[in-house]
Amino acid sequence: MKYKYLIHEPRDFISIIYINRPKKLNSLNIKVLYEINHLLKILKKDNSVRIIIITGKGDKAFVAGADISEFSNFQSSEGYKLSMKGQSEVFNFIETLNKPVIAAINGYALGGGLELALCCHIRIASKVSKMGLPETSLGIIPGYGGTQRLAQIVGRGIANEMILTGSMINSSRALSIGLISKVVNSDELIDSAIDISKKILINSPFAISKAIKAINFGFNHNKNGLKKEIELFSECFDSEDFNEGTNAFIEKRKPNFKGE
Ligand code: COA
Repeated sequence: MKYKYLIHEPRDFISIIYINRPKKLNSLNIKVLYEINHLLKILKKDNSVRIIIITGKGDKAFVAGADISEFSNFQSSEGYKLSMKGQSEVFNFIETLNKPVIAAINGYALGGGLELALCCHIRIASKVSKMGLPETSLGIIPGYGGTQRLAQIVGRGIANEMILTGSMINSSRALSIGLISKVVNSDELIDSAIDISKKILINSPFAISKAIKAINFGFNHNKNGLKKEIELFSECFDSEDFNEGTNAFIEKRKPNFKGE
């Protein structure tokens, strides 16, 4: 299949996936999510691929979130389906993949973009990257696992701070809270992800797949949390605040929330 929004660059045992929608800061519309799922299903079965690196095309964004223009008119049932389908076909799919996925964050990783990085097994970022879950500024909550995985990775207190303020953090703070494991210059990002990949490639693929499974198993308590997140995410879609928040983004103005 020819991808409209992905560039796939196979190297020796490593597959690099570029999300390629730079004019919209690589935001995730339904088609991008479909293409990611399609490609990952192929790479999962391909024994010549042992590591996957995900990054964004362009110098500004990894992924600036789900495509707000696509869901701004959604009702709660559509919000529910959006979140459930995305979680199972992309975010949970990546987390439970039998081979490691490295997020190489090359700029804004916001909302669904940070959630994409959070479900990857390893995250590194360029110095200029900014990360955050700004959904509450739009009148919704993270719906692709962010409420669960961010808290697991950085702890509940900092997750609360990031989600409730919706603020972005820079790479050095992300490193200090354990959100990412390395910060490098932008032009060294992919090479750095490849260096990590090479260290993994020395090890047993069989053992690697079992290690991912074992680590995930210890965090399985998030299954109910993910389900609850889908419900609460979809409830936001029937609120006035959701209409105000998404319209304000589209109209490039500040929202005026009433709490209804
Ligand atoms: N969904 C849809 N379109 C998006 C988007 C998103 N999540 N993020 C950025 N874009 C689009 C903008 O609408 C703009 O399109 P236009 O040129 O047709 O107007 C283009 O990408 C460039 O973004 P712009 O806002 O002009 O860039 P900026 O440098 O001024 O600001 C951000 C960058 C990341 C701060 C800003 O784009 C932003 O806040 N994006 C939304 C982040 C977000 O809330 N994500 C969570 C979604 S659930």
